[in-house]
Parts: sequence; C-alpha cells; structure tokens
Amino acid sequence: MKAWHLNEFGLENLKLIEKPIPTPGPKELLVRVKAVSLNYRDKAIVDGIYLPEIMKAHLPFVPVADASGEVVSVGSEVTKFQEGDRVTSHMFIDWIDGKPNTNLALGGPINGGLAEYMILKEETAVKTPANMTDEEASTLPIAALTVWFSLVEYGKIKAGDTVLVQGTGGVSVYAIQIASALGAKVIATSSNNEKLERVKALGAKEVINYVEKPDWEKEVLKLTNGEGVQHILEVVGGAGINRSIKALATQGNLYVIGFLDDLYANVDLFALLAKQVKVHGINVGHRRAFDDMARAFEELKIKPVIDTVYSFDQAIQAYKHLYKGAFGKIVIKVTE
Ligand SMILES: NC(=O)c1ccc[n+]([C@@H]2O[C@H](COP(=O)([O-])OP(=O)(O)OC[C@H]3O[C@@H](n4cnc5c(N)ncnc54)[C@H](OP(=O)(O)O)[C@@H]3O)[C@@H](O)[C@H]2O)c1
Repeated sequence: MKAWHLNEFGLENLKLIEKPIPTPGPKELLVRVKAVSLNYRDKAIVDGIYLPEIMKAHLPFVPVADASGEVVSVGSEVTKFQEGDRVTSHMFIDWIDGKPNTNLALGGPINGGLAEYMILKEETAVKTPANMTDEEASTLPIAALTVWFSLVEYGKIKAGDTVLVQGTGGVSVYAIQIASALGAKVIATSSNNEKLERVKALGAKEVINYVEKPDWEKEVLKLTNGEGVQHILEVVGGAGINRSIKALATQGNLYVIGFLDDLYANVDLFALLAKQVKVHGINVGHRRAFDDMARAFEELKIKPVIDTVYSFDQAIQAYKHLYKGAFGKIVIKVTE
C-alpha cells in the first residue's frame, strides 16, 4: 500500500512510501481509509513540539489521527463490526469511557490514517454517522469530540446558555455549530470580518473582531448585560486567559483546550476564585462520548465545515494550508 511516513521531525521529512498492508490482530479491524482530516496536533507532531520524546522514540510512523473508511477484514474475535461497515477512528485507542486512558493515540505514536489502509481496535472504532460522507466524518474525531466533551460531558450545556468561541479554526467552528444546535447563544470572535459573516450563517448570534477590539472581554460583558458567558472554549491560551476569566459568568465553565498563543500564562488567581470559575482541562474525549455525539449529529443535522479537500498526493500542500490557517477543516481524500 501507499502510506505517508514521518521519518524525522520537519515537513520535509514526511515522505510517500510503499509498505505492506497491515494484518489485524484478533480484536482489530483492517480499514481501507477513504479520508483523513488534519488538526493542529498533526502540525505540532511534525514540528516536534508535541510530546517530542515519545514521538521521536516511535519514528517513523504514519501520521494523522482522524480517519474514516470501510472495514475490509476483521480479526477472529471481532463481533461488533463486519466487512463493509463504515467506521471512523477514535484518537485515544484505549479510552473507552470513564477515567482517562490517554497513553496511546493514533497518528503518533501509533500508526495513523495517512495511508491506504490502517488498523483500528474494535473497541474504539466508531460507526460513521449515516448522513455523513467519509470526508465529512473524518473531521469528527478530534475537533468535534473535543467540543462535545467540553460542552456536553463536562459542562452539561443547556438551551439558553451563552457560549464564547474564539477564532474560526476547526475546533471553534464545531463549537459554534454544536452550541447553536443545542439551543445556546453563541458569541464568536475572529480577526477577519468576512469570517465573522460566515459564522453568523453557522448560528453565531453575536460577533466580535478581536483585532479591532483587543479588549473583547468588555464587548462580551456588554452583550450579556454585564453577566458574562456560561461557557468559554479556550483555544488561544497564553495571557489572554485573564480576559476569558473576565468574560465568564460567576461559576462559568472555562474549557482549557488550546495554546495557539502560548502554552504558559500568568493567571489572576483572585479573579478565578472570586468568580468560582470551573476550570476543565480537556484532552479530546472517550469513545462512549463519541458514540453519543455521532448519534446526536444524525438528529441535529450538523454539516461539517470543510475548507478544502486535497488529494492523497497533495498531503504536503494540505499541511501547508493548516500552517496558514483554515475556516473549519482541511481534508485529504485518501482512496475512492
Ligand atoms: N485539548 C484538546 O483536546 C484539543 C483538541 C483539539 C485542538 N486543541 C488545540 O486547540 C487549538 C485550536 O485547534 P484548531 O485545530 O481549531 O486550530 P486551527 O484550526 O489551526 O485554528 C486557527 C484559528 O484560530 C484563531 N486564532 C489564532 N490566534 C487567535 C487569537 N489570538 N485569538 C483568537 N483566535 C485566534 C484564528 O481564527 P481567525 O482566523 O478567525 O482569527 C485561526 O484561524 C490548538 O492549540 C490545538 O492544539 C486541543
């Protein structure tokens, strides 16, 4: 089969190679990969800034955690799936439910989906939603599940809640769609006014340009009659987290998801405790929540927002697009 291998850190070391089709173990599925989607994590792995010691020890491997495809054969003890089933990957291959088990993840250190065939464990493969193409479903495993796990599993979001979403990357576009579909009022920020028009079409009720209004937390307070929002999906990180605390309602939920600005921050602890903020560290989610989300997406009619679909040969261009930012998700079509 053809597969992309990350041989060393650096995009110049991502190479298209030929290798044998893997053989599934007793409880595993062999999947013909139809499509994968890229996440910030994939870029961070290639750049050698995401768990570099662990990743380096396992090079070379097939990158990319998010994949959708068709089961072509199953191991001798598999009961849940059969040949021909449409399946989607789940990044943490051992986190099924309950307490986190995040040691092993697809796309590094375990071989991921940027190959014509991949192995998925039966226990952590997810049935692809019937109303989605493989390209659409390939965008679910990290970006959508991270949002669902934050708002639904941890935050117990309710219709009528207010949610702040930062920027228009893969996670944030899903946050706008999921929160709106569940009846929440979404306030979205972006550096770009055209993108702000597009997020209104996805359900955002209010928008703020965070470049024109660097004190965006004051706008959020104005838009919520001084109360602040119940949920913030913090994808930016860095010192801006103090603005997020100001923009939150008392006992609001702060989901610490990303570090687009900085991994480190000096946090105003008094502001945090005075507001009794509920801080949730988020690391994607478990397979049970993914199953719940996949079922819900069929009912909520959420249509994934795909910026561009690249061909398998164009994987490097797809990564370069990720580096410069996208509106929603970047997909690579792997096989027909
Ligand atoms: N913890 C987890 O489980 C988890 C899961 C998924 C992702 N993440 C993390 O979440 C972050 C976002 O991931 P992603 O895949 O959505 O990234 P992405 O698609 O690359 O998002 C890029 C977008 O973020 C916005 N942005 C950048 N700097 C900003 C700032 N200072 N203020 C507001 N918005 C800003 C920009 O939107 P505009 O162009 O509209 O300004 C930009 O287009 C990353 O740090 C990623 O590692 C964590």
